[in-house]
Amino acid sequence: TLPQVLSGQRVLISAGGTVEAIDPVRYISNRSSGKMGYALAQAASWLGGDVTLVSTTKALTEPAGVQVEYVQSARELHERMHHYFEQADIVIMAAAVSDYRAKNIASSKIKKSQQDTQVMQIDLEENPDILASLGAKKALDQVLIGFAAETDDVLDNARAKLRRKGADWIIANDVSDQSIGFNSDENQVTLISQDQEISLPRMRKEVVALEVFQTLFADCDERA
Ligand code: PMT
Repeated sequence: TLPQVLSGQRVLISAGGTVEAIDPVRYISNRSSGKMGYALAQAASWLGGDVTLVSTTKALTEPAGVQVEYVQSARELHERMHHYFEQADIVIMAAAVSDYRAKNIASSKIKKSQQDTQVMQIDLEENPDILASLGAKKALDQVLIGFAAETDDVLDNARAKLRRKGADWIIANDVSDQSIGFNSDENQVTLISQDQEISLPRMRKEVVALEVFQTLFADCDERA
């Protein structure tokens, strides 16, 4: 059995790409499969945590022992994360949140233009930054972890996100490499805090997830 490093800890995790409706049949989303967030939820439960997973996808098997809730849009995810936030000891934003949504959701299917134009415009407006809003509310004894999905200057951009979003840790992953990151079975991450940087080797997401908790929370029992 695994060391119960998260025993007595409430863990809140988001997973998957948000889905922003354009009309009844179309949406804006991204390539997140939810695998990283699900692996974190399963690992947290195996390590003794009391886990809630807020997911945008129903395509994956619910992790054993984990309470799962489903949402679609960034605004729904924002509402659920804030709903559970106060009770949580550890919060991880693994979801890939759309920074923008359609300004107006059409109530019926948008028709192809009859005019002879090849350009179609959809106005977008900004979504809330969920991680930053949790960072602004965070109590001293809560641990808030975000991801940084980067294609360039991975570590520099991740360090900037750590500061800007008020997280305790940012897990940086290079999503320019299609064999790690979005919709792959493996990931290679660097865990970044204000005073530490820990690079883990490339591994299956299930192993990355266990390593993240074992690295960051190995001393929970001692602190309790
Ligand atoms: O789901 P998989 O296919 O397994 O892929 C895993 C992953 C690549 C999606 C995952 O490891 C990952 O990197 N998740 C975060 C994706 C993302 O939105 O990154 P970002 O760098 O754009 O955002 C930084 C952080 O802010 C993230 O924790 C994100 O959840 C959060 N955020 C972003 C925008 C927003 N409006 N609100 C947020 O909370």
